[in-house]
Amino acid sequence: MKSTFSNPKPLHAAIIMDGNGRWAAARGWPRTAGHRAGADALRRTVEAAPSLGVSMLTLYAFSSDNWKRPSAEVGALMNLLQTYLHKETSRCVENGVRIGFLGRRDRLSLSICAAIESAENATAGGDRLHVRIAVDYSARDAILDAATRLRAAGEINRENFARALAGGRDGPRAAEVDLLIRTGGEQRLSDFLLWECAYAELYFTPVMWPEFGAADLEAAVSEYYRRERRFGGLALEPAAS
Ligand code: FPP
Repeated sequence: MKSTFSNPKPLHAAIIMDGNGRWAAARGWPRTAGHRAGADALRRTVEAAPSLGVSMLTLYAFSSDNWKRPSAEVGALMNLLQTYLHKETSRCVENGVRIGFLGRRDRLSLSICAAIESAENATAGGDRLHVRIAVDYSARDAILDAATRLRAAGEINRENFARALAGGRDGPRAAEVDLLIRTGGEQRLSDFLLWECAYAELYFTPVMWPEFGAADLEAAVSEYYRRERRFGGLALEPAAS
């Protein structure tokens, strides 16, 4: 489908999906009900992204600090991730959506790792939207890890560092975020994509994640196009006639 926005440059949007617990508590429901509703919001957002000109969507599903939560909630989140992948993978294949993951895998269960690998393999050919789910992710740990590998392997400069952060020495650079969205009313980055967000436009909305949908993503993208991105330079002068 053609993008709603005329600007041709595809966007990398990243989302901190916050507010599941408060949304559920406000209804007298357990926090896990909020996470389940959050999975529905995720599905809606993935469906809406391509027609809004978003070609990469990076989602914060579980931070390395989320291990501090009660084990029942951690278990429910992991089960939800596994169920989501089982249910959504074939739909992603049909719709040209590639699924990838960021974060550590060595603390995830074997069954979660298998579900992740199977989703990555099955959707590897998707070229309409690249969805990246951050699980057991910490930007500071990712930066430390890249710096450690680079120190052993070669010259440290921005270019090499950006490649190391993406996982390799010769591959792609870590994807710069254009638009960072955080739902749920809080206004912080919570250790998410700290390098990649160096020049991201930040968009905070009070909408709780379970209520987020296509109209909210469109509002965020519209706001992005109203901003002037100068990257430390000066505003462009209109061309002299
Ligand atoms: C933050 O809200 C949300 C999370 C820690 C989990 C995000 C998970 C989902 C959106 C579920 C679906 C994800 C996948 C990948 C299937 P919070 O619980 O901290 O909310 P609160 O600030 O209101 O307590």
